[in-house]
This record gives sequence, structure tokens and C-alpha cells, in this order.
Amino acid sequence: MARRKLIAGNWKMNMTREAAVALIKELIPLVQTEESDVALCVPAIDIIPCVDAVQNTNIKIGAQNMYFEEKGAFTGEIAPDMLTSTGVEYVILGHSERRGYFAETDETVNKKVLKAFEHGLTPIICCGESLEQRQQGITLDLIRMQIKIAFGSVDAENAKKAVVAYEPIWAIGTGVTASTEQAQEVCKGIRDCLAELYGSEVAEEIRILYGGSVSASNAADLFAQSDIDGGLVGGASLKADFGKIVNYK
Ligand code: PGA
Repeated sequence: MARRKLIAGNWKMNMTREAAVALIKELIPLVQTEESDVALCVPAIDIIPCVDAVQNTNIKIGAQNMYFEEKGAFTGEIAPDMLTSTGVEYVILGHSERRGYFAETDETVNKKVLKAFEHGLTPIICCGESLEQRQQGITLDLIRMQIKIAFGSVDAENAKKAVVAYEPIWAIGTGVTASTEQAQEVCKGIRDCLAELYGSEVAEEIRILYGGSVSASNAADLFAQSDIDGGLVGGASLKADFGKIVNYK
């Protein structure tokens, strides 16, 4: 079974409500495609106007984080059913910025992944190494650990629906992209790890994205790699270039 590509934008902490709706209107005609799934992961407060703005288009709206409890005294957090009730389908979990600035750990990522599946949300599970870790030669060891912990207690039926995003930290927002060989090598390593956990049939169904300075000029080469099923796009998803990345061929 050929995996369908997913091109997901990660707007991070950008775009007021008005700017968000204006950008979506600009992007709608540019990201039309039958070939890939298209999602925009927007700031929580922009979700509702963005879901409205993408009605009857091929764009799906995602969130950038979520908490692992159902409800209660967790000031500032967002519950999974708050996302699903607005029409959100995807949620980014364990982005390196969440890990680095907000103390997200592999263990909290795992709790969130389990909770996302419980609510029918598709998690986009992020993993990736720092430059120092790459130079130490521990990239694959580290990624395999992140993947194994993130998928802890996730059954095969849910695992199939997961999306993994390999995002080398040194490539995020730096303009330095991993080479196609580096990106493919790690994405293949992730699939091998998933095959060890679930068998190759399940692993073949899981979509693995590359993220880190994806642009209109490098998307085609990256997405042509056999284990890269699309991209998680930060900076370039905030402009019309995102349309070129979606229609990368
Ligand atoms: P970037 O961000 O495309 O701006 O490098 C990617 C990401 O952090 O998801």
C-alpha cells in the first residue's frame, strides 16, 4: 500500500486571528491537491476561526500541543475534547521547542500520544537530535529511544494511524536542511524501529515526515525518499511558498 503524503504546516507562535484567516484565504487556492493530505497546525486561539475558514477545502486544522488529562485544575492547558469539539484532527506532540523550552519529556509525550488516540486525534509525534548529539554519533540511538517511549502501550491499530516527524534540532529554523541522505537514513531507522515494535506491515503504514528548514527548493528531493512521507513545515508555512511545497512535484 502506498502511503499518502502529508504536508503539515506548523505556524508556531505566529498569526493573530485576523492574520490567520487572511493567510488561510491566500493559501486555499495554492494548496489544492488530490495527491496529498494538507494540514495547518495553528495557535490554539486561532483554531476556531481557522476551522471555519477551511470549510469545504482540502485543508485540515491541527493543534500544536495538548494536555494528557481530561479536565480539571491545569491552568493554561487544553484538553483533548476541547480540540475534537472544534473540528481539529491532528495534534503535534513533543516538538523540540516544547521539549526544550517547556520541559516536555518522552514520558509526557507518551501520555499525550495515548490520550490523543483515545480521542480519535492523529498525533504528529516529533523526534530529533541536537547537533552535539549528531556529532557524538548517537542520533539513531536517541531517536530509537524517543520513538520507543512515545509509542509505549500504543496498540498496533492506533500505531498505524500515527504520524512521526523527524526534525533534527539543528535544522529547525536555521535554513540548514538535513541532506536527503541524512533525512532518509534516520526516517528509515525510525521505520525499522517501528517494525521491531509492531511488525513490518504496521510500520509500512505509518507516515514519517521530515521537518527542519523544508522549503520550496528542497521539498521535492526530500519527499522523493522512500521513507519520507511528507513534511512538517515551520517558517515556509507562513507564506505562499507553502503552496509550492504542497505541490512539490
Ligand atoms: P522550520 O520549522 O521549517 O521553520 O525549520 C520546522 C518545525 O519546527 O516544525
